[in-house]
Amino acid sequence: MEPTKYIWMNGGLVPWENATVHVMTHALHYGDGAFEGIRFYKTSSGPGIFRLREHMERLVYSASVLGMIIPFSIEQLCEATCELIRANEIVQGYIRPLAYYGYGVMGLNPRNSPTEMMIACWPWGKYLPVEQADIKVSSYIRIHPRSTIADAKICGHYVNSILAVLELKGTKYHEALFLDSEGMIAEGPGENFFIVKNEEIHTPPLGTILAGITRSTIIQMARDAGITVRERGISLDEAYDADEAFFTGTAAEVTPIGTINDSVIGSGKIGPITNVLKSRYLDAVVGNTDSYRGFLTFA
Ligand SMILES: Cc1ncc(COP(=O)(O)O)c(C=O)c1O
Repeated sequence: MEPTKYIWMNGGLVPWENATVHVMTHALHYGDGAFEGIRFYKTSSGPGIFRLREHMERLVYSASVLGMIIPFSIEQLCEATCELIRANEIVQGYIRPLAYYGYGVMGLNPRNSPTEMMIACWPWGKYLPVEQADIKVSSYIRIHPRSTIADAKICGHYVNSILAVLELKGTKYHEALFLDSEGMIAEGPGENFFIVKNEEIHTPPLGTILAGITRSTIIQMARDAGITVRERGISLDEAYDADEAFFTGTAAEVTPIGTINDSVIGSGKIGPITNVLKSRYLDAVVGNTDSYRGFLTFA
């Protein structure tokens, strides 16, 4: 990660190297933080932050699941993000807001630990730098909605994702795919999953997955283009038999999937619907589509 000049911490900018925490920080021990991943893009009107407000709303929701009240309004968090980008003088990259229980008490009740909040940003390129991803079903299942609140973006949940990523390290696969406890497809470690079959799009329903902001963007873009989208359970056999498959995510954007467990999806080439949605998405994030310009906040 390339350091920038400043990190926003608890209400003000501090130099990157001074943005440190105590080792007794509660979230460091127990994972009780909530975070976001947001991208901003170089546009003709300056850095454009994609769906900033929706990300901050999800952050506040995820924090609330931990009983945490972030002492800043959504407007203040959005403005802080813009201020940070301006101060760092970078035109495109990734933004990481994180709210966490800080240094105060130990033990599993975090309520007497202070709520801390930081936002960092830095230049960041492609997350899955391949034309088409070869993916493999993880031996781990996605976190179970009866063990946690699966649609909250909570730090501790990401051990599940990290295990799936580590399992593939040193193999030829680019990314993992989680099934849920029923054996149906859930999502990737940091991406939502879609298939195309007979010119209709199918994606797993909310429940065991993160309600991805890119997922909802792509659903909207597909429907705007007159393509039917169905949110429903998808089995692995259906995925093998799909015409196209792709991942979506803020980091991964729209990443076409070439193979699942070595089974070639469709023709093996990037499919036409994936192609259209990928290019519509990449146009929208840089402000080239008037009807989606409202998704951008200009820093
Ligand atoms: C587990 C998981 N699923 C899906 C996504 C995609 O979500 P979004 O499109 O909001 O980035 C992410 C990324 O944050 C994720 O971590």
